[in-house]
Amino acid sequence: MRHDHLISASQLSRADIEAVLERAAEIDADPAAWASAHDRAVLGLCFFEPSTRTKMSFETAIKRLGGATTDMGSVESSSVKKGESLADTVRVVEGYADALVLRHPSEGAAKMAAEFVDVPVINAGDGAGQHPSQTLLDLYTIRENVGLDGLSIGIMGDLKYGRTVHSLAEALTNFDVRQHFISPESLRLPRGVRFDLHQSGAQVREHTDLESVLSDLDVLYVTRIQRERFPDETEYEKIAGEYQIDVQTLEAASEDLAVMHPLPRVDEIDPGVDATDHATYFEQAHNGVPVRMALLDYLLSTEPDQ
Ligand code: NCD
Repeated sequence: MRHDHLISASQLSRADIEAVLERAAEIDADPAAWASAHDRAVLGLCFFEPSTRTKMSFETAIKRLGGATTDMGSVESSSVKKGESLADTVRVVEGYADALVLRHPSEGAAKMAAEFVDVPVINAGDGAGQHPSQTLLDLYTIRENVGLDGLSIGIMGDLKYGRTVHSLAEALTNFDVRQHFISPESLRLPRGVRFDLHQSGAQVREHTDLESVLSDLDVLYVTRIQRERFPDETEYEKIAGEYQIDVQTLEAASEDLAVMHPLPRVDEIDPGVDATDHATYFEQAHNGVPVRMALLDYLLSTEPDQ
């Protein structure tokens, strides 16, 4: 992989994805062998929005490579509160870190930040835009459970605002995958993402109900309705509570169906599903560590301007 920054899944070729997933599998098989691969490396964490998994798994990943983190902390406790611009913040943190992980509520924030710094920037979510490192761990989980080529995947829930969906859908066009998008009309995939999928010749179908496709799926990727991105709370209230699954729903599914979710879940997956063989979401979250170790290894090993 030869990229200075990871901003969008559309940057990733099949070869890039396979290289990271292979490296992640090597790391998973023998994590101790990587314990000092990047000692002295410091990862800068700039999270302008809440995070549990992404931030903590990046922290664990750099520590397991022998490195350390420096963390901007919450927006409330940082100079952002005093009115500092994003460009200034990242230019300052660049001097403290060898790579930056940035999460921000504005679409395009990571791309903009990358224009101001020389160290690698990893987009850990830019509003309703992209979340490409999540995609790498999603792909790793799919590959480990059902394999990527010949796959039939259902992606359900908030396809409009869900950035994990936008990144995953684009990355899946590198593989022989049938993508079924299941959402209410008002939360369909954004036009730009649909256009990109169409341009790449992806096998895509849209549905408003799960029942019509469930039995054909190898993976069902469920997402949270992104309440914080709804301009109008009453619109959210209308949709919240739809597109939920429970053990009964899954009776119509293949017994090998893997149910995934980037988490956090609210009420999209009933906790009763957790005890079934379908539940793959906690394994998915745990895969964040080896996959982000592999990603950091690539980005930190790449000389700028190569
Ligand atoms: C996702 C996000 O932040 O986009 N969370 C994550 O990183 N696993 C999904 C979400 O918030 O719904």
